Amino acid sequence: MHAAPARLVLGNWKMHLDAAGAAELARAVSRYADAQNAVQVGICPPAIYIPIVKQVLTDDSTLWLGGQDCGAKPFGAYTGDISAMMLKDVGCHFVLIGHSECRANHGDKDSDIQNKILTAIYAGLHVVLCIGEHAADRKAGNWAAVLEAQLRAALPHDVRREQLSIAYEPIWAIGTGVAATEKDIAQAHELIKQQLVQILGQQPDSLPRVLYGGSVKPNNALEILSLSVVDGVLVGGASLEASSFASIIQSATQVTTASRV
Ligand code: PGA
Repeated sequence: MHAAPARLVLGNWKMHLDAAGAAELARAVSRYADAQNAVQVGICPPAIYIPIVKQVLTDDSTLWLGGQDCGAKPFGAYTGDISAMMLKDVGCHFVLIGHSECRANHGDKDSDIQNKILTAIYAGLHVVLCIGEHAADRKAGNWAAVLEAQLRAALPHDVRREQLSIAYEPIWAIGTGVAATEKDIAQAHELIKQQLVQILGQQPDSLPRVLYGGSVKPNNALEILSLSVVDGVLVGGASLEASSFASIIQSATQVTTASRV
């Protein structure tokens, strides 16, 4: 895997599109991704379309392909599961683990999430661990404790920046069209980074990246990505249209280029 630039812009297509639509969108996104080298762009198509998407990418495309989830075991009698090794085998670079929709719909527990992380790292995939609090936790002032518990339960101790990123996705902001405020994002990311220093015992500059996800759109991406504690974004709805995803990639490129001068 080539060394990733600092910021990540990842699209999560969830259970959307058909085969032809996935191929077309991937072709368009790869054009935007390959036309710049300031940010690392990735997409997570529905697993069944990954080989179709892979086929439309050029051999030297820089676009990362990702799975939306993986099994907790490397192989075996687990009907319906797809293992991290299988994702790697069909050309994936990374996998989302612990997305709130998987936690809610498939009943993923912290121990499952930790096992998934370990198998994915073993398979050579970059892991994007998704964490986030419910609206009730935020209202009750418990958000920090929830994030801390999710991190402590899932993180292996000897993980490196190249192997793992964190996506902070407040559940109340996902798919609602209302992103968290800049203040909320900054506070949560600062807390996550402090926790990473404690749990991993690493220096701040070698820590895993911390991405924000939850209603990232072309009209708020620049402000969110401009926060110094935000190392990228995980985008759902707005990644399903080439033009809106391209605009978010453009914001990340702008922020990265500005911070270099
Ligand atoms: P959204 O989804 O951008 O549609 O809110 C984000 C996600 O679930 O990763």
